Amino acid sequence: MKKNLFIAIEGIDGSGKSTQAKNIAKRLEAEGHKVYLTFEPTDMRIGKMIRNTFLSGKEKADEKVIAALFVADRLDHLLHETDGILKKLAEGYTVITDRYYFSSYAYHGAHIDMDWVINANKMAAETLKPDVNLFVDVSPEVAMKRINANRESIEIYETLDNLKAVQAQYLRAFEKLKNEEHIVAVNGDDSPEKVTENLWEALQKENLIQE
Ligand code: ADP
Ligand code: TYD
Repeated sequence: MKKNLFIAIEGIDGSGKSTQAKNIAKRLEAEGHKVYLTFEPTDMRIGKMIRNTFLSGKEKADEKVIAALFVADRLDHLLHETDGILKKLAEGYTVITDRYYFSSYAYHGAHIDMDWVINANKMAAETLKPDVNLFVDVSPEVAMKRINANRESIEIYETLDNLKAVQAQYLRAFEKLKNEEHIVAVNGDDSPEKVTENLWEALQKENLIQE
């Protein structure tokens, strides 16, 4: 590996990206890398508030307010004095985050102007761009089946129509930012092991890791 990387894993709910983030982390660790696996919304103060208040459906707010809270959570995620991503990278960790700003583009871009969301995230993008945004690409139908089969509580975003909308917005965001961002999409419809293999091969092909 060239340096300690910052990898963002993206996908619709139920795409299996959390499973893949863990698998890739394990694989990198097995090769001797120090890995810090993290996620958004975070389990820090603003992330907790987002989950408890808005994702739970307990309260409503204008979509721009929610998008701005995700920005604040993301900046906390980056800049936190002891647990921040910048700090972890400085300590030599490879950082894998389960969701980063493309999640904002896709989820909020389904409701409000995507350029507004991209602008709102400029501070994060200017602070730290992922070495690669890995997109776990599954059909919304497959994702919905996985969610229904495995989850006890379904969050407000988790309907088939929303999954379809978010998938379409991801593709729109990737197209919009293809010249500024490193984006790699991998088919996620296979078994977890096969998807991990596909992701690993993609990382090697992009020269991000060497064995
Ligand atoms: P996400 O983080 O994208 O919401 P998860 O990794 O939490 O997805 O996976 C959602 C559910 O689907 C989990 O219960 C998980 O065990 C299951 N799952 C993950 N990957 C696969 C796969 N490749 N095939 C079938 N089921 C999967
Ligand atoms: P999470 O509970 O982590 O679900 P998953 O396991 O599917 O990743 O994510 C919570 C929800 O937050 C998810 O539906 C996507 C949404 N979200 C946004 O709307 N904006 C964002 O910026 C981020 C990071 C997530």
